[in-house]
Amino acid sequence: MTRRLAADAAGIAEAAGALRAGRLVAFPTETVYGLGALATDDGAVARVFEAKGRPAINPLIIHFAEVEAARDFAAFDDRADALARAFWPGPLTLILPQQANSAISALATAGLGTLGVRLPAHGVAQTLLRQTGGPVAAPSANRSGRVSPTTAEHVLADLDDRIDLVLDGGPVPIGIESTVIDLSRTGQIILLRPGGVTRGEIEAVVGPLTRATAERSEPIRSPGLLLRHYAPRTPLRLNATHVNADEALLAFGPHQPEGTRIWRNLSSGGDPQEAAYNLYRALRELDAANTRCIAVMPLPETGLGEALTDRLRRAAAGGEEPPP
Ligand code: TXA
Ligand code: MG
Repeated sequence: MTRRLAADAAGIAEAAGALRAGRLVAFPTETVYGLGALATDDGAVARVFEAKGRPAINPLIIHFAEVEAARDFAAFDDRADALARAFWPGPLTLILPQQANSAISALATAGLGTLGVRLPAHGVAQTLLRQTGGPVAAPSANRSGRVSPTTAEHVLADLDDRIDLVLDGGPVPIGIESTVIDLSRTGQIILLRPGGVTRGEIEAVVGPLTRATAERSEPIRSPGLLLRHYAPRTPLRLNATHVNADEALLAFGPHQPEGTRIWRNLSSGGDPQEAAYNLYRALRELDAANTRCIAVMPLPETGLGEALTDRLRRAAAGGEEPPP
């Protein structure tokens, strides 16, 4: 059994001790729950991949409490410093060149020579990281390819018995993963994954971003991007303007089509922030209804909508095939 601890002072102290001892601890961040392991401990990092069923080619984000601690492990240029000042702590991950002889487990970085660095804004995550006293590798705390968890219940639904502890800090405030920006090459800034910080907010600081696509012919920059992701078991039908009786409906905005009794509205007022907060819980609940298909209404493609539509497209790709 995975033990569930309240995210109070005693729970956080116990969780920090468990991380230092090489155990696996799920914890809340402002975006989604993470599955933490001490990033310098090969055995602990290996158990993260095992618990999630995650392919070894897909590297993990490394979490720090302070930017000064991150500098010992990753090289910051002017662009990284500017983004760190503007958005940290917060839902932005920077891919940076790894410092030589860094103590991070090579398993965690999939041997890429780069480090995904993140400073979460959630108070529980910050206290946990500070008390652990070392870098913490943490992917989202779900089975590989499945929907990210926004509550401790979601974590247990996927990982009960496979991890040691979950710190229960209640529902997370943002509900969608961090934005991932690749700064490891000079001359271009690549948006690998849209997320909690919008493209517009980032471009206001460092200028235009290049959007990565899985079809690019260059060497693979972020192996995780190639995988089907964030998917419920039920197939999705995107840009739906009507709903059939044997479908569930994922609605957005005030003009919801009639035709099914099974629906969730991400935001009846049409607010993308509210939609992000509700997205993964709504997908889990509609998936549990076991309909033939989930019809998804159109969502805005800009602002936070870029991350929402990215996740829904990934969830829809691949139909009923199991994730790799
Ligand atoms: O909000 C978040 O980012 C959450 C919380 C827990 O921090 N974490 C999260 O981790 O979403 P995960 O593993 O589910 O997604 C991380 C993504 C993956 O697509 C991975 O391939 C990419 O970031 N990534 C991590 N390190 C990388 C690196 N060195 N180079 C390129 N991509 C990297
Ligand atoms: Mg994930």
